Amino acid sequence: MLAIIGGSGLTTLSNLDVSHREVVRTPYGEPSGALVFGQICGHPAMFLPRHGYGHTIPPHMVNYRANLWALHHLGATGVISVASVGGIRADLQPGDIVIPDQIIDYTWGRKSTFFDGVGSPVTHVDFTEPYDAALRAKLHGAGASLGITMKVGGVYAATQGPRLESAAEINRLERDGADIVGMTGMPEAVLARELNLPYAAISVVANHAAGRGTSAHGIQFESLEQVLQTAMGQVRAVIERLVADTNGCSPAA
Ligand code: HPA
Repeated sequence: MLAIIGGSGLTTLSNLDVSHREVVRTPYGEPSGALVFGQICGHPAMFLPRHGYGHTIPPHMVNYRANLWALHHLGATGVISVASVGGIRADLQPGDIVIPDQIIDYTWGRKSTFFDGVGSPVTHVDFTEPYDAALRAKLHGAGASLGITMKVGGVYAATQGPRLESAAEINRLERDGADIVGMTGMPEAVLARELNLPYAAISVVANHAAGRGTSAHGIQFESLEQVLQTAMGQVRAVIERLVADTNGCSPAA
């Protein structure tokens, strides 16, 4: 069953035909909210809003372990993560959608492994390719068949937040090779890997990163609401098409 983790701008999944909700307790504490189960295009899917239903959980306080554990425990076989990001690379504009293929972790102090319990074996998962190639290809295919342009490939820089970056920090991230910047990509991606859950991300560019383009003198989030809403409409369509392509059904127009 496909699981979708929604971020800012995607706190509900309107094309999920909801059947029930489930509150899950995990060995790692509470997930961000009840898991929502339903069907997309006749096929089971589940949804979890990363920041909670009232959008009250900041990136550094999200219980990533509980979220991933709960999705896995209740039957997820793949995870699509949706999140808004700042665009660093010069060709990226607000409203663009990126499917990243690499990640750099600048977060700190987050619980970032399941393998730290007393007596649990020391385990080093391979993270050479942090995102699942097959799931990324499906996302790309779904976008292409809808005529939605998505930038394929890109390096996601995961920052700690909740504050935004300084212009100098963005320059540093660019020198490091980052194309986009967000606050939630890690440890989510590695926890999925530790559970052997295929994981891919859809990153929606909400703004030019600090010091760049329209954010040269500061980031104005208010004006980007409309951009984000339009892009999230496209994200919903891509997810529906992905489910349709995988299962051979026809999504609603
Ligand atoms: N930086 C970090 N996270 C973000 C940004 C940004 O500019 N925009 C949306 N999420």
